[in-house]
Amino acid sequence: MTRRRGPTGSARIGVSGLGYMGLATALSFSAHGGSVIGYDVNREVTDRIAHGRSPYHEAGLESLLSRELSSGRFRVVGDLAEMVAETEGVFLCLPTPAGARGRIDLRPVTSGARQLGKALRRTEGHRTVVIKSTVVPGTTERVLEPELRRVSGLGTDRLGVAANPEFLAEGSMVRDALRPERIVLGVNDPRSRGWLRRVYRSFGAPVLELSPTGAELVKYASNAFLALKVSFANEISRMAERLGTHVDDVMAATGADPRIGSKFLRAGPGFGGSCFEKDLRALVTCARDLGVRLRTGETTLTVNAEQTHHALELARQAAGPLHDRTVAVLGLSFKPGTDDVRESRAFPLVTGLLKDGARARVHDPVALGRFREAWKLGHPGGPGNGESLVFASSVPSALEGADLAILHTDWPEYRAWPRSWTDRMRQGVVLDLRRSLPASVTTRARLKVVALGVGNGSMPNGGPAGPPGSRRP
Ligand code: UDX
Repeated sequence: MTRRRGPTGSARIGVSGLGYMGLATALSFSAHGGSVIGYDVNREVTDRIAHGRSPYHEAGLESLLSRELSSGRFRVVGDLAEMVAETEGVFLCLPTPAGARGRIDLRPVTSGARQLGKALRRTEGHRTVVIKSTVVPGTTERVLEPELRRVSGLGTDRLGVAANPEFLAEGSMVRDALRPERIVLGVNDPRSRGWLRRVYRSFGAPVLELSPTGAELVKYASNAFLALKVSFANEISRMAERLGTHVDDVMAATGADPRIGSKFLRAGPGFGGSCFEKDLRALVTCARDLGVRLRTGETTLTVNAEQTHHALELARQAAGPLHDRTVAVLGLSFKPGTDDVRESRAFPLVTGLLKDGARARVHDPVALGRFREAWKLGHPGGPGNGESLVFASSVPSALEGADLAILHTDWPEYRAWPRSWTDRMRQGVVLDLRRSLPASVTTRARLKVVALGVGNGSMPNGGPAGPPGSRRP
């Protein structure tokens, strides 16, 4: 990218928490000319980063890291106080995992704020603390700001606390961080507002300013709306199958209306990932606490869970009863381009196959290890690399003797589907949940491909009724 030497160049920025999001955020500030210090409580993480090795599998992250380390604008420290002393403001990028009963677990963020508060006690001059973590609306103003003030002893003249949610999607984090579509600032005090505007000036993205609580709600509303679009496309896909049409054609034409927009209308096995489900649950719960019933959010989650039942039904239709059959599941990460398996729909899919009495052979080009670890944690003493569930290290070994292959994640390497793969199978039947196999593959003899959202026109009960009186007896 061309580096614009804008006012970001004069900002001294701290980033506390170097997970996927914190690291990408820190490097984006540095790439835009800021002087950035990163800190993480985990020594292993800071050591790796200091040596130019990204702890995470994320496209472009490691090369950006080595570039920014050698530019001298980015460095990591193992001492929070040092970072706080040398910067004008600190972005808190700590995780907010799912907690009990649909709430988020605020403990990592509150304890991070407390540590930061202690380090702030020894500073001079003004500081801004920016909450980048996804926290339910009201958290910055009602929980984190009071805690930071209590521990640091700093009043509004010395400390500003703001919210600045991120919208980074895995697989495109580097691009999203360097060139965001918009910057949402939740800030009440003018001094912090001025500093944040300066931090982001060279990014060239529209800056939208709200209160911290408003900014926090924007984050949840955005994810809830994107998830709603996916669930909507998934429901339409079920209709498309019965009506004998193609869901992608229908959604492309629907999304061509700019009021609707064409993105996030790809039907598939349902959404996964660390954000959508957790954020939706937290939003629904937060709404309920406020006396508001968020039916769209509740239904989005229901439709997502149903989509796995639908995928299993398609599998039964494609290959017959699954009892005693061998089914290969290709792709385990929640989307391609990442080894992240959090909330991947591959988990309920494999569980459903095993419940039906099938033997599952699972494969993923990069996420197999993480899937195995997570599966074993969730199923202590349960199936794993035994008869009923095999973690296959190659596609041919996953397909050996299979009666059905289910394409769950659209990794590009699956698209070529060489003939030798079909030869490995006992029956050449593929259920393509992402419609990723090209026509050159789907039209091959000896291979039956059933695709989610693509109809064969078999409408139950003769299809929809015509106008009154037109129905044949
Ligand atoms: C999401 C948001 O996009 C991001 O802004 C936020 O900060 C974090 O949550 P991420 O979880 O990385 O990012 O993935 P995303 O690309 O949004 O996909 C989420 C899930 O929805 C994936 O399982 C994906 O396969 C699915 N999806 C997405 C569809 O099934 N169809 C679509 O059209 C789009």
